[in-house]
Amino acid sequence: MLLSATCNPGLEEIAIQEIKERVGREAEMFHRGLLVFKGKEKDIFKLNYFSKTLHRIIIVIEKARIKTLNDIYSAVKKIDFSSFIKPEQTFAVRTKRHGTHPFTSIDISSVIGQGIIDSFQETTGKKLKVNLSEPDITFLSEVRGDSFLLGIDTTGESLHKRWYRKHTYITSLRSTIANSMVRISRLRNKETFLDPMCGVGMIPIEAYHFLSEKPNKFRNFAFEKLFWLNTSFFEKLKTSHREKHVESRIYGFDSNRKVVELSVENSRVAEAKVNFFVSDATVYPLDFDRICVDMPYGIRMKTHLRKLYDGFFRNLLRSDFKKAVILTASKCMKFVPKMDFEKIYTAEYGDIGIKILVLG
Ligand SMILES: C[S@@+](CC[C@H](N)C(=O)[O-])C[C@H]1O[C@@H](n2cnc3c(N)ncnc32)[C@H](O)[C@@H]1O
Repeated sequence: MLLSATCNPGLEEIAIQEIKERVGREAEMFHRGLLVFKGKEKDIFKLNYFSKTLHRIIIVIEKARIKTLNDIYSAVKKIDFSSFIKPEQTFAVRTKRHGTHPFTSIDISSVIGQGIIDSFQETTGKKLKVNLSEPDITFLSEVRGDSFLLGIDTTGESLHKRWYRKHTYITSLRSTIANSMVRISRLRNKETFLDPMCGVGMIPIEAYHFLSEKPNKFRNFAFEKLFWLNTSFFEKLKTSHREKHVESRIYGFDSNRKVVELSVENSRVAEAKVNFFVSDATVYPLDFDRICVDMPYGIRMKTHLRKLYDGFFRNLLRSDFKKAVILTASKCMKFVPKMDFEKIYTAEYGDIGIKILVLG
């Protein structure tokens, strides 16, 4: 079957690596933030349960070239939906549209919905019901230029919403970006790890979960309502999985005592053994194997950025580390001293352009 996965735009390479590692599939970028790959039913369960850089796994049921709303209706109407949805189940259609079209994403969702109802009625004689707030099945459509993709969501609430994120803070980082940074740092068990400006602890917690292979627990998945999938494999997956013993020492520092306290609480809920300390990243020696840091951008926090960046990079460059992964807003690159980075990722975090700089 054709599967697709959504991820952070600009970090597709890391998401592709994770898919390869977890299910052995070669995913390709369909466009920014959307990957496609040929897979099997088991991949859906494994990726939803374990993946940490993906947001959503989708079963693609139609791929077409379209010009008009009529083309979309015709592409949808020819699908036999009785193999995907039961008469008593409700559905919703959600659409993302990119490019210039004489119709809106609401128009697209509405013709798809009509196509689904008409097709289902033709094959079964029954009329399906739409439920936009709590549907049993969610169809996801994407129209980009003349390309149309229709799929069934298997995830439900996006995977980036981690159960342990009890305390957030104005600057806290999206978990899937934090996890991607840990992957970029190439952290291995037994190595030391530090986030010297850890806020509420997303990066060190994700580092611990990366090593311990913590699954996405305490949540439901949309695939549980897809009657045509054999979920017994998922039950086996849950009972047979054993978390790994973490031998690394993982640290999180921050100069703000209040966020350090929130980090301690988050890591307790997350079952992640992280050592948090109040410390100044411009002063305390950064002699750790792997360092990942999400620098202040000054967008939400008023900080003397020039002084902070100078002090932090001076301290970093005199420290002994194997790899450092530094996230900042693109607009703050002017504060980063000139140096040869091994790699620079250009990504998006909501509407903020970000850079992830790799040193080592
Ligand atoms: C962008 S936030 C990090 C957010 C974090 N990744 C999270 O998920 O919560 C930057 C953090 O740097 C901290 N900070 C600012 N100056 C610092 C310094 N000199 N030493 C250590 N931490 C500092 C701030 O208190 C803030 O929590």
